[in-house]
Formats: sequence, C-alpha cells, structure tokens
Amino acid sequence: MSTLVPWAPAPALSGARYSAAELSAEGDRVFLLEQRLLPRREVYCTYTTSDEVAEAIRAMVVRGAPAIGVAAAYAMVLASHAARGLDPAAYVAALRAAGDRVAASRPTAVNLAWAVRRCLQRVDAHAAQDGPARHADLADLARAIHREDVEACRVMGRIGALHLPDEGTVLTHCNAGALATGGYGTALGVIRAGVEAGKRLRVLADETRPYLQGARLTAWELHEDGIPVEVITDSMAAHFLGRGEVGAIVVGADRIARNGDVANKIGTYGLACLAHVHGVPFYVAAPWSTVDLATPDGAAIPIEERSSEEVARIGDVVLLPEGVRARHPAFDVTPARLVTAIFTERGELAPGDLARAAG
Ligand code: MRU
Repeated sequence: MSTLVPWAPAPALSGARYSAAELSAEGDRVFLLEQRLLPRREVYCTYTTSDEVAEAIRAMVVRGAPAIGVAAAYAMVLASHAARGLDPAAYVAALRAAGDRVAASRPTAVNLAWAVRRCLQRVDAHAAQDGPARHADLADLARAIHREDVEACRVMGRIGALHLPDEGTVLTHCNAGALATGGYGTALGVIRAGVEAGKRLRVLADETRPYLQGARLTAWELHEDGIPVEVITDSMAAHFLGRGEVGAIVVGADRIARNGDVANKIGTYGLACLAHVHGVPFYVAAPWSTVDLATPDGAAIPIEERSSEEVARIGDVVLLPEGVRARHPAFDVTPARLVTAIFTERGELAPGDLARAAG
C-alpha cells in the first residue's frame, strides 16, 4: 500500500522544486509524484516494494520514458533492500525476478528495460558483497542513472535550443518535461533552454487525449516557469500550422529504432505529417537511453495497447453508447524521413546517423 505525502522528504536530486521520482536516503522508500492528480493536487506516493512501483508505472502514477527508467532503477533498489539477507545466488535470482516484473510494466518505453538491465549488470558484479554494501552500491547506481538523465536533458536542451526561432510559437505534444524525466525535460528542456538563452517563445500544447498530459502536465510545468503556454485540442494543430503560426514542433520519444523511426505518444505521427506538409521543422529530443539499436525499425517497436475504458470515459462520464468499445494504442511511430533532427546528449543527429553515433 502506498501513502500520500505532501512533499518528497528530501530535496529533489535535480535541484528543482518538484520531481517525478526520488529515493529515500536509506534506499528503502521510493517517492513518486502522483501525476494523475496534477494539476489539482501536488502529492507524492511512497512505496516500499518493487512490485508496488511496477504497478505505479503501469497505472501511470509516474510516466514519460526517462522518468519511468529512473523509477525502475529505484524499484530495483527496493528489491535489493527486500533481498538484503539472502546469499549471493538467491539475491541475484530475486533481483532478476523483480527486474522482469518491473520491465514488463510498460512495453514501449525502452528506458525501462534499459535501466533494469543496467541495475542487473551491477547486481551480477557485486552480489558477493555483504548485504548493506551491495544495497548501497545499487542505490548509488540508481541515483547516477537519475543524475545522468538530468544532465542529458540539459545538454540536449542547449543543443536543440539553437534550432528554435528567436521569437515565435513552438508546438509540443504530450508531456516531455521535468515530470517525464529525471528533471528539466527533453522537448520542454529544449524550450526551457531557448527561453534561458533569451528567446521569446510561446508554446502551443496539444491536450493529448486520452490522458491529457499536455493539458494537465505540460501546461502546469510551463505555467510554473512563467513560459507562455496555451492548450489546444489535438485536432486544432492543423489549423494553427496552416495559418503559419507555428515555427517549430518539438516532441520527446519513447523509443527510437536503429533506422531513426520514432515511437512517441499517440498523435505524434499526425503532427509530423502536418509539419512535412507545411514545411515546419519537426524535432525529437531524447536521451541516448531512448535509442534502441537492437530494434531495426519502427515496425519492430512494441506498441502498448491500453484499455478501451481510458478512451471511453472522461472522469466519471461515459462517452460511448453501451456495447461500443474504443481502440487505445498509447503510441504511434513517426517514420525517420519525417524527422528533421534528433537532439541527444551526444549531439544533434540526423535520424539516419544513429548507428554511426553509437560508435
Ligand atoms: O504514456 P506516457 O505519458 O508515458 O507517454 C509519454 C510520452 O509519450 C513522452 O512524449 C515520451 O515518453 C517522452 S518523455 C521525455
């Protein structure tokens, strides 16, 4: 059972006022900002087991590819805490089993499996240490994964900001901000860095049916920072692009295949098509942990299908006639040819250059 607390008890690792995921100093509790309640309430849930965190990821308490990677690493620390008394072989087996359950909580965002894999490599290497030492070691790694993500966001932000107009409107989809990452944000990091560099930017945020990440989360974050933001329904994007009111589109990613195809929140592909038709640059910002060189192209990316219910109702109001189901793919794939550039902490890349950048 998780409990709600008004603040994460420690300052956010990113230095920001709020954080999607934090680990207690002792490595025995994980704090997740309950994103389903934003913007009405800002409260944290506390978790003491890896399975609880896995369920929170599935249920979207925490969401956004890099943030669920951080949450997954912290979940592994909780699994290590629970297994602290076990002999090395049993410890490794317990953490592998926990890792499988955490990695299965959402299928599309590759950061999740990436973070679990990184933790399990450390578990294998340090299993022979005594319980407290191997636990502290895994907690250090999980915090490093978190810290690296914040740093990656800042670097890609500075790189991406150079491509934004000095003045004008940037359109974004879903929430690829501090709430979706270790802190600062990918797409919103690019916008933040542009504003910090003195650009006069306004943001159009797609509301992002059905979870409304744009309306609830992106608008909240940007409004907090004093960056001008207006929300539009997803179907209004073509109208504003057609009128020449959008200077650039910047989005995040859940997985980028080896050929540069990009999986991101459902609706992203349509935006990329619109950008193409209207000659507007379409940028993707993502940490290298989102790049999946083992997946050859977008057709091989698993797309999460969520429940019909999430589309069929808004709050308590059922929208559909009884007996009618809704479809709910949570992500779509934008072909590499529609992506102008990908901003990562390794630099600005053409979608076709990923394999070469991997070295
Ligand atoms: O279903 P969500 O809210 O986890 O989807 C999030 C997105 O699609 C984001 O754009 C993506 O994870 C990038 S977040 C930096």
